Amino acid sequence: ILATMVRSEARQFRQFADEVRQGLTEVPKKLDPKYLYDSLGSALFDAICCLPWYRIARAENQLLSRKASELADKIGAPVRIIELGCGSGEKMVTLLRACQTFRKKTSVHLVDVSSTALAWSEQRLREFEKTLVVTHQLDYEEGLQMASAHRRPEETLLVMFLGSNLGNRDTLSSIELLQRIRNKLEVGDALLLGIDLVKPEEELLKAYDDPLGVTAAFNKNLLLRINTELGGNFNLDHFKHRIIWNHAAARIEMHLVSTKNQAVLIPLADCKASFTIGESIWTESSYKFEIQTIVDLVEKANFCSCEQWVDQEARFALTLF
Ligand code: AVJ
Repeated sequence: ILATMVRSEARQFRQFADEVRQGLTEVPKKLDPKYLYDSLGSALFDAICCLPWYRIARAENQLLSRKASELADKIGAPVRIIELGCGSGEKMVTLLRACQTFRKKTSVHLVDVSSTALAWSEQRLREFEKTLVVTHQLDYEEGLQMASAHRRPEETLLVMFLGSNLGNRDTLSSIELLQRIRNKLEVGDALLLGIDLVKPEEELLKAYDDPLGVTAAFNKNLLLRINTELGGNFNLDHFKHRIIWNHAAARIEMHLVSTKNQAVLIPLADCKASFTIGESIWTESSYKFEIQTIVDLVEKANFCSCEQWVDQEARFALTLF
């Protein structure tokens, strides 16, 4: 087991180094948002969820606790749940607390790239003694693969993809991932998708560029992580957090903008990156949807929509397929 863990850590390290080198030498520069979630990054994301301007987590938790029984009735038991990108585990706790059926004979698989987030989740789920919890420190694709292998014939499989996590991907890559999920499911299984909806631009900008600077810290932490893990020499004072609402593409773009001409060395990634003043690293996209576009997108991956619950005030939708 130890050897497997060491190998998997070594592989994840190599992958991080390779992607940093590639991402910082191409034009425009960009990095995969999954790298935002090291231990500090996961803590900062949890803090973001407490900000009054970022309403996704609150709206979703409210919908989950109100609609849990209805959801359970539609799914049936016993159920095996796979949550992709569980974060701190709060959503799973909400669901299990809200509904008896989910607590009985339920197996839960938590998939997240952050070992810290998984440790918090496991801790939180201890209150449900009858629930078997398995964690997978892997990305969505690999986690899905590992978790779905546990599925037994008499069980219903429920894949939960919440928090608007799908919004990080463009249409094509979303459909690809949805198809991967669909391939692991059989008729009668379910996908629960939580997606943030388009709303006025001022609201969106405040949610991603908050007055307390927590999101800026979350974004800049990626540079700190590169310094710590890959020996980089980024000066965090020479980069600025920038948020753009790209109306045509219906997405928030998060960037780190260089405030001067500079070169950065990242020895363990075998990389030297030069920045001109104003040049940015694109660190994340968060696509926002209309209610119908969610259904259209997911049905392209051969799902059927079953039920949709919308928080009209926060403009957030939970859809069961
Ligand atoms: C967890 C990916 C859904 O895109 O809204 C929050 C991450 N980025 N603030 C999002 C995030 C900046 C979040 N997701």
